[in-house]
Amino acid sequence: MARQPQVVACKSLGCFFLITASLAFGGCASEPLPQVEIVDRWPAPVVSNDPRPVYEVAPLAYVPPDGSRGAELYRKCAPCHSIAPDGPHGIGPKLFGVAGGPIAAGNYAYSDALLNKDGMWDDASLDAFIASPRNAVPGSKMSFRGIENPQDRADLILFLKSQR
Ligand code: HEC
Repeated sequence: MARQPQVVACKSLGCFFLITASLAFGGCASEPLPQVEIVDRWPAPVVSNDPRPVYEVAPLAYVPPDGSRGAELYRKCAPCHSIAPDGPHGIGPKLFGVAGGPIAAGNYAYSDALLNKDGMWDDASLDAFIASPRNAVPGSKMSFRGIENPQDRADLILFLKSQR
């Protein structure tokens, strides 16, 4: 008569020792040991067909700049700046072609502060200047408080870059 398997189902690590012990002692007997079937040793992994990632990561707040929104926002600048290719200087210099070009390069009566600022109007310098002209170029005569919202600035800068 075949011996009954001592362990047919196993739900915890504890039974590992049971199996080991039964193998050790059973090994002395003349009869071959019965096959021990280990069932359900660990909880089965949960398999899901849901394609969404398991870890929900908060999406980054990045929104690509929108030039047409920038054109709308330009209304804040228009009282002092024309933007047409052959537009006049107003209270401020005309801004056509300014983005991407050298700082204070027009035939406009710039402040010494802006004339003394080296470099180009790239995204970073425009962003800083539009955020706060006073902080970016102390002594500038652009009397404009600045635009706090970084998305607004990015949109405006994209619009400025389209006007060149
Ligand atoms: C109240 C008037 C006024 C408003 C509003 C204003 N600016 Fe100006 N802006 C000026 C003046 C004046 C200067 C010249 C600053 C200087 O010489 O120090 C200037 C200079 C600039 C320059 C440098 C141009 C160059 O030739 O190097 C940029 C760029 C500029 N403004 C962008 C803007 C943008 C973008 C806005 C709108 C968000 C804006 N400004 C709103 C008056 C204004």
